Amino acid sequence: RKLVGKLTTGCTEFNEMLGGGVETQSITELYGEFGSGKTQVAHQLAVNVQLPKEKGGLNGSVIMIDTENTFRPERIAQMVDGLSQKHGEDYDPEEFLKHIHVARAYNSNHQILLSDSASELANELKNTERPVRLFIVDSLTAHFRAEYVGRGTLADRQQKLNKHLHDLQRLGDLFNAAVIVTNQVMSKPDAFFGDPTKPIGGHILGHTATFRLYLRKSKGDKRIVRLVDSPNLPDGESIIAVTTEGLQD
Ligand code: GTP
Ligand code: MG
Repeated sequence: RKLVGKLTTGCTEFNEMLGGGVETQSITELYGEFGSGKTQVAHQLAVNVQLPKEKGGLNGSVIMIDTENTFRPERIAQMVDGLSQKHGEDYDPEEFLKHIHVARAYNSNHQILLSDSASELANELKNTERPVRLFIVDSLTAHFRAEYVGRGTLADRQQKLNKHLHDLQRLGDLFNAAVIVTNQVMSKPDAFFGDPTKPIGGHILGHTATFRLYLRKSKGDKRIVRLVDSPNLPDGESIIAVTTEGLQD
């Protein structure tokens, strides 16, 4: 078993809450309502993972499964520029973009297939200078939610999601990579999905995701991140800011 790696969020409190950063060989679930910052955090981690270890990165590359067409290269470039300022370096956004491999998933079956392709690509990169150290699925649940509608389909949806999550966990273990998945929840209780603090995907996601982070909006560019039900860390909250330069304290 390989030593667990820690990937910086770029935010002091957030890192401390996670015991140093986002862990490899684990699934970390970002959940929260629309606009709460899930995709922003995912973008920032796709940048940070490429940093050298002394800067909190894992010297790795990224595979992102984008199900909602929300990947924005320009946003990555802004974040890289933000890091250049922060570290007094001259990072090249194009270099960072080269190491983010994005695949668009058109439906839930395609999304599952893409996790197999991700495994193949990660294998090819395994013994290079830039092994894959981060897998992102943004959003994990959107296609499933759209396709499996109504009570009768719930068991089927959960079973498919469960298998998908196990595949992702395996990728994390096999490549000593962090796995980030996002999951939109409603701010108000919903007749069908119920309690917003219990994300869609329900208990199955709850047990599989080792780190569950509940994001919510606060004043201005501030976001509150809550660590929920961690097996080995105290529950806690931290405040981050989503700025033009990326995530900040
Ligand atoms: P859903 O995918 O709809 O569930 O939302 P999400 O949780 O993924 O939200 P997302 O991460 O897309 O957050 C959107 C918010 O991030 C915006 O409302 C802005 O506050 C902030 N944001 C997004 N892009 C930028 C940017 O380029 N600059 C700045 N300063 N803020 C941004
Ligand atoms: Mg999003």
